[in-house]
Amino acid sequence: MEFSIKSIRLEKERGTIIAGVFEEGKFTASAHLLDKASGGHLGRLARRGDLTGKSGSVTTLFDTPGLACERLLLVGLGKEKDLRPETRGAALATALRALRTTRAREAVCALLDSPPERDDPVQRLRQAAIAAQDATYAFEEYKREKTRPAALKKLVFPMDDPPAAAKRALAEGAAIAEGIALARDLGNQPGNVCTPDYLARAAERLAKTHALRLEVLERKDMEKLGMGALLAVAQGSRQPPKLIVLRHKGGRSGAPPIVLVGKGITFDSGGISLKPAAEMDEMKYDMCGAAAVLGTTLVAARLGLPLNLVALAPACENMPDGGATRPGDIVTSLSGQTIEILNTDAEGRLILCDTLAYAERFAPETVIDVATLTGACKIALGHVATGLFTDVDTLARELAAAGEAALDKVWRLPLWEEYQESLKSPFADMTNTGGRPAGAVTAACFLSRFTRKYAWAHLDIAGTAWKSGSQKGATGRPVALLAHFLLARAAREGYGA
Ligand code: BES
Ligand code: MN
Ligand code: ZN
Repeated sequence: MEFSIKSIRLEKERGTIIAGVFEEGKFTASAHLLDKASGGHLGRLARRGDLTGKSGSVTTLFDTPGLACERLLLVGLGKEKDLRPETRGAALATALRALRTTRAREAVCALLDSPPERDDPVQRLRQAAIAAQDATYAFEEYKREKTRPAALKKLVFPMDDPPAAAKRALAEGAAIAEGIALARDLGNQPGNVCTPDYLARAAERLAKTHALRLEVLERKDMEKLGMGALLAVAQGSRQPPKLIVLRHKGGRSGAPPIVLVGKGITFDSGGISLKPAAEMDEMKYDMCGAAAVLGTTLVAARLGLPLNLVALAPACENMPDGGATRPGDIVTSLSGQTIEILNTDAEGRLILCDTLAYAERFAPETVIDVATLTGACKIALGHVATGLFTDVDTLARELAAAGEAALDKVWRLPLWEEYQESLKSPFADMTNTGGRPAGAVTAACFLSRFTRKYAWAHLDIAGTAWKSGSQKGATGRPVALLAHFLLARAAREGYGA
């Protein structure tokens, strides 16, 4: 979809207009203006109950007297005092769905004029571009009958004298939306297609189109390095493991990079500690961390952010076979620390711990890992917030702010020393599971033992990376969050100034 900003007189606009109305007959500024131009037509509809403003509702008016537009979509925004930034995106999605069945190729989106004033208009533009693309996403590669593609190709935002930042926000929104779409596509691919090799090839395509540096470590490289934990997970699978190293060099040469690490288990059966059958298909989504770091790297490259970025994605499959790791096996990780693998289903931390140790060689400024790590995090925070763990308060604040701005929220959970207790092993330096209590925290504590050399944050996306049920599909989270984090870091380097 193409986005633009134009100075527009709404009553003179000939095509399709999307505007918002509140409950109790309250109008946004745009709806107000349209109401006036139509001689109070909208107000009459509201008074007789045909325009409720309930959130999720949409009323389409055709050839409204006094207005030049063919189509006016009035989307409900709920109660004015309850309006949140999220509401606008949802309303825009509702309107775009309604437009699917029409031939409209272009629409004016006059939805961003509503209060509250606490978020800035530039931010709203970025959010709207992301929401619009997200709403039109479909994954239908394997369906013989495809839904008809939406005719809508262009979304115009009315604004007089837009600041340069507004145009840039639209470009940023479009780039972030592309990163999200890539992450969703990779996530939705089934496990028989999206193998470690498939992920490596996806990284190769990215590297080619965006002039990124790519290196892929193979099993023999991992053996040479001594990545005993990662290799222990891969050894029960016919699919050879890959460690993807994708680099965007937008910063000064020699400037310490931001390293993003994404869990890339292309299917998590649990291994010998086999998972129960129910919903096991959803474990194809266990590579969504890897998908998110690739998607975020795409955003950084497309926008040419003045940062050095390294994306590390350990990719392998967790399967049971005669060569698979047994519960009780002890392995030596790249860091030299030994691990007693009590549960082969706690495999994410095993591939991450070797990758986090590997990250040291980039002398990173900051390392952030992203992983569908624990069912416990999904129980704790549901599908609303991603779990955030870090000992660095400033980093926690930055990520929380980025999450708010991106409408891709995080919530911090503790990493206190007391929780380390549960990882004690009678035979090795640690076990790989701390049992059921505080499972998301003890998993993060495990990772923390491999991140002592740099500033580090861990994002557990087990509850947020995909949706189940009738809406089943990858969400592309937390690409928007990470991209906003990078934008804020880039701004410090003068980007956008
Ligand atoms: N990939 C899973 C975590 C997961 C499960 C995410 C369900 C989303 C939904 C991870 O590898 C795993 O199996 N974790 C175990 C850890 C346990 C064995 C200590 C879990 O959460 O049960
Ligand atoms: Mn598992
Ligand atoms: Zn897993």
